[in-house]
Amino acid sequence: MEYSITSGHPEKQRSACVIVGVYESRRLSEAAKQLDDASDKYLSSILHRGDLEGKLGQTLLLHNVPGTLADRVLLVGCGRKQELGERQYKTMIQKMVLALKEMGGTEVVCYLSELLPKGRDVYWAVRIAIETSSYHLYQFTSLKTLQQTKRHPLRKITFCVSLRKDLDNAEQAAIDGRAIVNGTNLARNLANAPPNICTPTYMAEQSKALCKLYQNIRCDVLEEAAMEELGMNAFLAVSKGSREPAKLIVLHYQGADESVAPVALVGKGVTFDAGGISIKPGPKMDEMKYDMCGAAGVLGALAAVAELQLPLNLVVLLACTENLPDGNATRPGDILTTLSGQTIEILNTDAEGRMVLCDTLTYCERYKPAAVIDVATLTGACIVGLGHHPHGLFSNHKALAHKLLHAGEASHDRAWELPLWDEYHEQLASPFADMTNVGGKPAGAITAACFLSRFAKKFHWAHVDIAGTAWVSGNPKKKGATGRPVPMLVQYLLDRCKTMISS
Ligand code: BES
Ligand code: MN
Ligand code: ZN
Repeated sequence: MEYSITSGHPEKQRSACVIVGVYESRRLSEAAKQLDDASDKYLSSILHRGDLEGKLGQTLLLHNVPGTLADRVLLVGCGRKQELGERQYKTMIQKMVLALKEMGGTEVVCYLSELLPKGRDVYWAVRIAIETSSYHLYQFTSLKTLQQTKRHPLRKITFCVSLRKDLDNAEQAAIDGRAIVNGTNLARNLANAPPNICTPTYMAEQSKALCKLYQNIRCDVLEEAAMEELGMNAFLAVSKGSREPAKLIVLHYQGADESVAPVALVGKGVTFDAGGISIKPGPKMDEMKYDMCGAAGVLGALAAVAELQLPLNLVVLLACTENLPDGNATRPGDILTTLSGQTIEILNTDAEGRMVLCDTLTYCERYKPAAVIDVATLTGACIVGLGHHPHGLFSNHKALAHKLLHAGEASHDRAWELPLWDEYHEQLASPFADMTNVGGKPAGAITAACFLSRFAKKFHWAHVDIAGTAWVSGNPKKKGATGRPVPMLVQYLLDRCKTMISS
């Protein structure tokens, strides 16, 4: 989909459709008023018949509106004007897209981007309009051979701003929005790919493909032999039960002088999590193909950063393996020595994410990172605690947590912070090793994060648990990867560039 920006009168837009908002109760937005005036009150007369009240998300498609150059006018209900918030704004864009998908025509012009939620500016409105449109237009169809999925002819959406002086901000929003969309779609495509295709080897191939696109990204892949040499025994304990070789994929993006300390992004890349010997129950086990969404998300963020050529350095580490049961698989009771030297007693082989991440975090130390952010579908407990709306956020550094929370708010890809108090660490005590790999039932997302924190003492670190946010579960009509937290991560990195330039 192509996205562009313009400003100008709605009645003068020569396009397949002009989209304008109507508030409750039948209150015309500025752009709708202009169409109404140009059409000799045609809109008002239609609304008086009672076909559209203006309730949030209602839509009404009109053809051949007099006095206008567009083929159609789509009215979108915006709800009460005083209540226009971020959520309402995204709903309006979503309902617009659903209506456009059913329509003919290749190019449309949308005036909903002129309706700013309280406290938000033109940049925000345009960027979120682009991201939200693309989110709802996305389809994963590469493996469907029967033409069941309807293809819509829509190719381009132009978003309008009311003041010409806002055009520069809107253009910047479009540039950033397109990059975030492309990164998000990269993450969604990888995550939706089935686990027989999307293996650790495939993740490495896709990473190398990204390097080919940009001169300033390079990629090294650590094979199992190299990991063994280093002593990454926690990581290898997970891959032992799988016939697919594990890969630790390391991508370097250089957008600033080499002397600038990089931000490290670490992704859990378990391409299928059957649980290992502590095997999972059958229902919904297919969804454990999504256990690589952390890796997909950090790779998507890298793709966006590279598209924008942001002036910073990044190291992106994808910890890729399968977790399967096998005669050679790790057993509950096994004790192993991690790359850090700390020992772990495995009590549950299904707590594998922290095993691959702990060694990867230790490996990160060599890059002397300014900050390390790991992203993982780590715990079912995170879903119990926070549901499917925010990511779980944990950090050993107040300022870093604050920046990520703020980035989540700004990009509307929000996180919620949970504590890493000492008290919780007691749940990881082992009679035989330095720690166990599970902390029992209470506060499972927190004890998992506490476990990781023991391998992140040498840098500023944050952990993002995306178990509840990385994909939509169940319902076959809605099931699929969300591409989160690409928007939050890219926002954090955009913010970081701004503060570096101003300081
Ligand atoms: N990948 C899962 C976590 C998960 C489960 C994410 C369901 C999203 C939906 C992780 O590897 C796992 O199995 N965690 C266990 C940890 C437990 C054994 C301490 C869990 O959450 O049950
Ligand atoms: Mn697991
Ligand atoms: Zn897992």
